[in-house]
Amino acid sequence: MFNRVDHIGVAVEDLDVSLELYERDYGMKLVHRETVAEQGVEAVLLDVGENHVELLAATGPDTPVGKFLAKKGPGMHHVAYQVDDIESALAALKQAGLRLIDETPRSGIRDSRVAFLHPATAGGLLTEIVQPAEAH
Ligand code: CO
Repeated sequence: MFNRVDHIGVAVEDLDVSLELYERDYGMKLVHRETVAEQGVEAVLLDVGENHVELLAATGPDTPVGKFLAKKGPGMHHVAYQVDDIESALAALKQAGLRLIDETPRSGIRDSRVAFLHPATAGGLLTEIVQPAEAH
């Protein structure tokens, strides 16, 4: 069902401070930066080979990432797997008994379509599936 790990999502307090680690010290290439207002996050995508690290900062305390940071502090937030067809993947995962946070895909960064699975039935790990935008 999953083609590969698309990215690891990391919650951070301050994107520019975190970029000193990921971009300057680790030498990862920053490929995208975008604020997704409806999700209350500012996200940065860095290349690691053909995979990515996604740094997530909250746009305010009353957002999912803001609440995560208040509760757990910065660190690993979610893992994202890449799929070709997000509707059929969601249907199969629902059929398998997994609890979906998103019954239908929502828009992610770089025109991707994404959906989240609840950690309760995903081994304790917030899990995202992502269908990238068609290459163009
Ligand atoms: Co993500």
